[in-house]
Amino acid sequence: MKDIHIGIIGGGLMGREMASAFARWCALTDVTARPVLTAVADLNPATLAWFDCIPSCVQKTTEYKELLANPLIDVVYVAVPHNLHEKLYLDVLAAGKDLFAEKPFGIDLDSARRIVAETKASGRFVRCSSEMPFFPGAQRAFEIARKGTIGRVLEVVSGFHHSSDLDPTKAANWKRLNATCGEGGVLNDLGMHACHLPVRLGWKPTRLFAQLQKGYAQRPDGKGGQTACDTWDNALLHTWTTVAGDAVPLRLEMKRLAPGATNTWFIEILGTQGGVRYSTAEPKTLWLFERDKEQWWKRTELGFGTPFKTVTGGIFEPGFPDVIQQMWAAYLMEREGLLDGRFGCATPEEALATHEIFAAALESQRAGTVVTL
Ligand SMILES: NC(=O)c1ccc[n+]([C@@H]2O[C@H](COP(=O)([O-])OP(=O)(O)OC[C@H]3O[C@@H](n4cnc5c(N)ncnc54)[C@H](O)[C@@H]3O)[C@@H](O)[C@H]2O)c1
Repeated sequence: MKDIHIGIIGGGLMGREMASAFARWCALTDVTARPVLTAVADLNPATLAWFDCIPSCVQKTTEYKELLANPLIDVVYVAVPHNLHEKLYLDVLAAGKDLFAEKPFGIDLDSARRIVAETKASGRFVRCSSEMPFFPGAQRAFEIARKGTIGRVLEVVSGFHHSSDLDPTKAANWKRLNATCGEGGVLNDLGMHACHLPVRLGWKPTRLFAQLQKGYAQRPDGKGGQTACDTWDNALLHTWTTVAGDAVPLRLEMKRLAPGATNTWFIEILGTQGGVRYSTAEPKTLWLFERDKEQWWKRTELGFGTPFKTVTGGIFEPGFPDVIQQMWAAYLMEREGLLDGRFGCATPEEALATHEIFAAALESQRAGTVVTL
């Protein structure tokens, strides 16, 4: 097993999620690289203190440049507000480290373009976090779509919903402000999740009409006052894409105000000969459409059929921490040149493609018209 020394910049929600995935790496049985969390940088000393529970994490600093100067570190994972992506990603590359970036990979399209250009110039191994396609049901949907066995594709819906923002007493954070989340708002926040599989399948929108919606204009600021919230909270993108030469409706849905949903990623692909439907709301359940003289929606209880094998029994159901770990296995094994046909993480070019979609959506919303990409 080869140890890969990881530094995390931004030890908040996602920084800690990644650290916990590394901590139970023994669950994986067919990988030859192991992440060793060696350093963490965060502005907040209380956040750094959480990392005391990880013995290998010997460097804890409020200055991320100290982490970048650590010669032991091979790969840096960066999970900070979107307005800091470009600066920190470019600093990681300039320090000669490989990068595991977070979505949306820059605050807007121009920023993503600069990051992609610098990634190419640096020659470093760079991927962008997007874990939901690593669910076994998502993998099955992807394989079915890729093999083209469902006849002429009629319609595709891909989305990500949650609902915590329905609560007006929830305090605002940087994700509710254009200055820190980006003008895209929910597009930046959830868009990669909705776009990843369609983009990977080559199903990029060719024309697009966006309906963007805002939620509460004000929220508690967490300090006893109120603060303005100016981001888009829900986005419905009605698009046309091309599948095997045919124009196909593709709807991309991203919602922070979806009644009843917690962290629900879903995809539905319907064709003339078959179809597939999967949602993390029912993580074990794959629906397959078949047609003969009669028609059927067949329900399969999936087990733990993740791309990378684990000690977890095949009948057990996977969850968010599992797919985070699978995504890291894909990152590290691809970096070693050992992906062997398994599903790889989102590439910088794919992240750029999502920003092209978001920019078109903002233009469509502004002009109230269909935008050609
Ligand atoms: N892949 C996913 O499912 C997923 C889920 C949530 C968030 N994200 C992405 O992860 C990134 C971070 O989101 P989060 O929810 O973890 O945010 P968060 O607010 O929970 O954490 C961000 C952390 O960055 C730290 N920070 C800010 N500026 C810093 C600096 N200059 N140096 C070092 N640390 C700094 C903050 O102190 C905070 O602890 C975003 O890009 C977001 O879109 C991805």
